[in-house]
Amino acid sequence: MAHGVIAITLALLTLGYSQVNANIFQQTFKQLHQEPPVPANQNRADEVQTLWIEQQLDHFDDAETRTWQMRYMLNDVFFEAGGPLFIFLGGEWAISTGYVTGGHMYDMAKEHKGLLAYTEHRYYGESKPLPDLSNENIKYLHVKQALADLAHFIRTKKATYEGLSDSKVIIVGGSYSATMVTWFKKTYPDLATGGWASSAPLFAKVNFVEYKEITGQSIALMGGSACYNRIQNGIAELETMLATKRGGEVKALLKLCEKFDVYSDLDVWTLFSEVSDIFAGVVQTHNAGQIEGVCQTILSESSDLIGLSKYLLTVFAQSGGNCYDLSYDAILAPLLESRYTGNIMRQWIYQTCNEYGWYQTSGSAAQPFGTKFPVTYYTTMCADVYGLQYSNSFIADKVAETNEYFGGLEPNVENVYITHGQLDPWRAMGIQNETQATILPEYAHCKDFGSISASDSSEMRASKERVAELVRQWLN
Ligand SMILES: *[C@@H]1O[C@H](CO)[C@@H](O)[C@H](O)[C@H]1NC(C)=O
Repeated sequence: MAHGVIAITLALLTLGYSQVNANIFQQTFKQLHQEPPVPANQNRADEVQTLWIEQQLDHFDDAETRTWQMRYMLNDVFFEAGGPLFIFLGGEWAISTGYVTGGHMYDMAKEHKGLLAYTEHRYYGESKPLPDLSNENIKYLHVKQALADLAHFIRTKKATYEGLSDSKVIIVGGSYSATMVTWFKKTYPDLATGGWASSAPLFAKVNFVEYKEITGQSIALMGGSACYNRIQNGIAELETMLATKRGGEVKALLKLCEKFDVYSDLDVWTLFSEVSDIFAGVVQTHNAGQIEGVCQTILSESSDLIGLSKYLLTVFAQSGGNCYDLSYDAILAPLLESRYTGNIMRQWIYQTCNEYGWYQTSGSAAQPFGTKFPVTYYTTMCADVYGLQYSNSFIADKVAETNEYFGGLEPNVENVYITHGQLDPWRAMGIQNETQATILPEYAHCKDFGSISASDSSEMRASKERVAELVRQWLN
């Protein structure tokens, strides 16, 4: 009996410990891949239906007959027969009611007496095509399958939902789901009349060096060049310490756990990649004052090294524990977890290895985060997690295939309105030509989904009015 209690306690402690281990990475990853910020003004009285639709496991292989249930949400509060269908597309996150009960798309559905829907992407949230995420079972995770899921959803709804048979369809998405808006319009042009793509990366690229360049530029723009310089100098100092046999000091300064091996490239790459991602999280999710606040904290200390490390310790501390495990093994742990846990690292990294690359490396000198997260770090991870076939050339071929199939920066689609935030590092993989896209000054990633509001900048307001006007044209 007493023995049993001890065993259970130990098991719980072990579980707690392993969660603490993975938490730093999961926390940052979640911030960078969460559902786009849900519009503030929510109409909570609306009744949202959560429903399921049967989907083919493989839309492109007739011999594969297995099916699964995809989750979606509907709000019919405004709908009148013949009105349009507005769909917010799910990306690499669990869907929530927030996009069908508030925001600019909601307001447009109200104006046009439309039906509101939110579709979940296969393998994310509760949309689980197979019982786990083993290497064998994850292979049906691909954007082409997800676009085919959406096509089936639209065809089925139009055929079966009363009053929708002649309706036009407007699709809206942010980040990866904005990529899907663009590619759906290209792949199934007859199924959607128009689309709005906010912060859509469209060009697949293995060595995405621009991401950390823009992260640095946005820090300098909003937080000042002293902040940029302090981060750059602090990171350079850490690199120098590691290069001059002072790794023990780095470990003590950042409270890294004993197992962190200062002579292991993979551990060192993991540490510096994570540090840069923490700053990317601040920039990508920036709201007024956010970058400035972090810079103030960093600049309030007496030196570059102390300012940087004190800030990092406050972020690391959010994951708890007496020491912080930033080893390569610690980032592999959630990636090797083949059960559904709600953490989406395994699914999203799989898509990068198979479709996009988009490794936000230290490959450019025009960024402040040092030199210690080369493309090899990320491609090594692909092979360690999903199998040895993920060589550099295999990944490069997959990425080239994506651009060839979808057209990269020349997708050649009609009726898709494209927006980007100026501060958003992702915009470098999107269409930035101002005759084809709207760049919103001093806004970050996916920040334009709220209702038109008094707090919008004039450019933000004009862009939202432009979307509403285009939708009126498309629906007429
Ligand atoms: C921007 O797009 C317009 C219209 O498609 C095109 O004529 C122009 O050459 C583009 N400019 C640049 C710099 O690519």
